[in-house]
Amino acid sequence: MYAALRSIGSYVPKNILTNYDLEKMVETTNEWITKRTGIKERRIASSDEVTSDLGYKASLQAIQRAGIRVDEIDMVICATLSPDYLTMPSTAAMISKKLGIKNVMAFDISAACTGFVYLISLAKAFVESGAKKNILIVGAEKISSIIDYEDRSTCILFGDGAGAAIIDSTEDKNEAILDVIASADGNYGDLLITPGCGSKNPIREDNVKDKLQYMKMAGNEVFKIAVKTLTNDVIEILQKNNISPEEIDIFIPHQANFRIIEAVRSKLNFSVEKTALTISKYGNTSSASIPMAMNDLYENKKIKYGDLMLLDAFGGGFTWGSALVRFAGKNFN
Ligand code: UT7
Repeated sequence: MYAALRSIGSYVPKNILTNYDLEKMVETTNEWITKRTGIKERRIASSDEVTSDLGYKASLQAIQRAGIRVDEIDMVICATLSPDYLTMPSTAAMISKKLGIKNVMAFDISAACTGFVYLISLAKAFVESGAKKNILIVGAEKISSIIDYEDRSTCILFGDGAGAAIIDSTEDKNEAILDVIASADGNYGDLLITPGCGSKNPIREDNVKDKLQYMKMAGNEVFKIAVKTLTNDVIEILQKNNISPEEIDIFIPHQANFRIIEAVRSKLNFSVEKTALTISKYGNTSSASIPMAMNDLYENKKIKYGDLMLLDAFGGGFTWGSALVRFAGKNFN
């Protein structure tokens, strides 16, 4: 039995925050943001939208495109760094509730921007073991809820959104998720961190006054390690599976910074046409960035059944990972 990525779906909030809007909020310019990141605009969820609402809408699309009923889903996993609630209930449980899914395992994972690659790894293992048949995986983020809009080093980068997929079981090896490699190293934890609101710095007046509830990033240090790690990941997974870069139909890197994507793409000799690029319109949506980019390709008919996708992610923790995945979705809307 193999695991297959049967469908993809996405949801982006309607509100657009442009670089010009940010010029009015912090000391920055459209020119600086565009040149250093490639980002032009990002989506921001409204005050009455929470992460599970975004995840729910992306999931509805993925379920419909997979051609299954919600009662056929036997597990729901959500990757998020901006959950509805800090400890419980999980965002996956909230998504399940909104979908009307009952009596199946639902839980969140914390792997920051590598979340979707971790989800694929988990879902693949559950399906291949025979324990589950139709797993809903969701990367959903309302990152705007943990951003300090007075901190120009982070507020220009991130946006809200969600992506979801159905991973099901198949006997057809040509549809299979080939491989996933993923790792973490907590020694780099401080470089990209939301220091407050956990057991280390609990929600207290002094911690909130110090803005510890917001994400902090040592951008330049993260940048350098990201380029190296994302490149090494790809080399490792291709070598391990004896696959050449030419055999990859589409490269879907985490959308954190256009310069990072360019550096990795050119080192690995992937053409621009073969590389997914949504950074300019969505910014960095963390765990949602890869499935949102995949959905973009799907809706623009740039991936088709059987295409070999190479996913590549890096994020806080640090976490990182790559996946070789055949696109096994069949229905175009
Ligand atoms: O998704 C998880 C992984 N995340 C990433 O991979 C993000 C990695 N990092 C980055 O994408 C980039 O490091 C940033 C876009 C965050 C920053 O770009 P950079 O080229 O590394 O700039 P820098 O941090 O070295 O800063 C250069 C200058 C500094 O000024 P001085 O010290 O040279 O006078 C900053 O203070 O740019 C300044 N700066 C800004 N200027 C205008 C920093 N942020 C801004 C801003 N607008 N928003």
